[in-house]
Amino acid sequence: LVASLEQVEQSYIMVKPDGVQRGLVGEVISRFERKGFKLTGLKLFQCPKELAEEHYKDLKAKSFYPTLIDYITSGPVVCMVWEGVGVVASARKLIGSTNPLQAEPGTIRGDLAVQTGRNVIHGSDSPENGKRETALWFKEGELCEWTPAQAPWLM
Ligand code: PPS
Repeated sequence: LVASLEQVEQSYIMVKPDGVQRGLVGEVISRFERKGFKLTGLKLFQCPKELAEEHYKDLKAKSFYPTLIDYITSGPVVCMVWEGVGVVASARKLIGSTNPLQAEPGTIRGDLAVQTGRNVIHGSDSPENGKRETALWFKEGELCEWTPAQAPWLM
């Protein structure tokens, strides 16, 4: 029943500035908690431009890149790391499609957003990027390894 360490993934999840301004932080955290994943990192953070550029460096050639950087740095974000078996793909399902108008009802974007440029939340797109983004947004010592009391019933 207990997951082996290699199966455990990390997903970097971020409530974007619109989600913070709209008071959706608790709603987002609640959905991940109720699903049963483990929170190992959490902070409210004003993202500097250089970090936003590093995080989204693969999108540098896209026409929306400058808008995306302005958006992510426009106010505080909530940075999180969620851990668990299959957490990366599962988080993407909980979050829903990039364009909120195409996101299914029941997903975070499907329920809470309208525009791609205001789509409330980011989630890593692969386990490799989960690790990369966690290392980018969190310093050593900021993550907390712990065993939830409910673990035998969930993990
Ligand atoms: S792409 O073009 O397929 O590489 O882009 P996609 O994978 O759909 O999205 C990558 C991230 O860019 C954000 N995005 C946008 N932001 C602002 N405006 C527009 N038009 C736009 N299109 C895509 C999208 O939300 C993804 O960011 P994250 O943080 O991963 O959600």
